[in-house]
Amino acid sequence: MKKFRLNLIPGDGIGVDVIREGRRVLDRIATINGGISFQYNELPWSCEYYLKTGKMMPDDGMSILRECDAILLGAVGFPGVPDHVSLRQLLLPIRVEFDQYVNMRPIKMLPGLSSPLKNENIDFVCIRENSEGEYCGIGEWKNAGQPDETVMQQSIFTRKGTERILRYAFEYARKNGKGNLISSTKSNALNYSMVFWDNIFEEVRKDYPDIRSSKMHIDALAGYFIMHPERLQVVVASNLFGDILTDLGSAMLGSIGISPSGNINPEGKYPSMFEPIHGSAPDIAGKGIANPMGTFWTIAMMLEHLGCKEEADKIMIALQQVLKEGKAITRDIGGKASTTEMTDAILAVL
Ligand code: NAI
Ligand code: MG
Repeated sequence: MKKFRLNLIPGDGIGVDVIREGRRVLDRIATINGGISFQYNELPWSCEYYLKTGKMMPDDGMSILRECDAILLGAVGFPGVPDHVSLRQLLLPIRVEFDQYVNMRPIKMLPGLSSPLKNENIDFVCIRENSEGEYCGIGEWKNAGQPDETVMQQSIFTRKGTERILRYAFEYARKNGKGNLISSTKSNALNYSMVFWDNIFEEVRKDYPDIRSSKMHIDALAGYFIMHPERLQVVVASNLFGDILTDLGSAMLGSIGISPSGNINPEGKYPSMFEPIHGSAPDIAGKGIANPMGTFWTIAMMLEHLGCKEEADKIMIALQQVLKEGKAITRDIGGKASTTEMTDAILAVL
């Protein structure tokens, strides 16, 4: 019997709904395969928790989190708590302290989805740097409220951090038979950070002559996503650029609620964390209409990471069958079903 310990952080808004439904899918997987079981440790860390305690997680939060095989997160952030507080006190410390420096984000059209683009030939991965860059959180706020009020926001790009993400992306391309890699830059305007990024890219790409690689400014690349999605195979980007490009990528599939992500610590020294790319969607929170498929896809990624490829495939096959039938799908992708109804349909296939 393989027993996996999962730390669950539903978080806020629709995060709570999608993790509840995700647990049902995991329970079903365990029932189908008697050789697997999941032990959940559900943690209440959220904006609600912050309003009660003044913290997004307890002081020993990281040591509690460490004791598991993987972390599954819904989303955090809710009106009443500034977004930079919820993000910087929960999500970002986990990514940084657990050295989850790879944020793996597949963007793939599935049969049954309908893209707002004319071109539905979309199947690529965005590999986002997840531990430094624009999200380092360093800056200064001077002379608040005065005419000369000034703020500064720094980025940190280290050789170690930049080289390892670029190398990871090239290795991923090689291992997965992807012959084409694009590095996202903006070295015309960001004359330190992105010039440095481009220099390291030039160094690293020399080791991968078998992969066609090029760089593109982020603004042009955003246009390219829309015009030529079929040419994309592997995109590697800094923390901020990858964040922006992947909401765009998921929207290209029809909804921000579709795409999954894995915050990976490739060395396995710390647990990795899996979460749909969307946020807590306060505009639809409590309505029971959130699309849970980003979470189911995320769970499939997590299972694959845990060595359960067969189970991961089962979830993806069930999901695609429900999408193709088109009956029990949520509103954001053109149906009428509630979050729970869509899950019910997937459980029925499973
Ligand atoms: P968002 O992703 O929550 O929502 C953007 C739009 O997409 C909204 O109209 C929402 O209704 C829709 N949407 C998102 N997920 C959906 C789903 N599963 N089904 C159907 N529709 C969906 O982004 P927004 O509005 O910028 O952020 C809301 C809150 O979430 C903020 O507090 C933000 O800081 C937080 N956030 C948290 C993230 C995380 O925990 N990883 C990631 C992104 C945002
Ligand atoms: Mg995002």
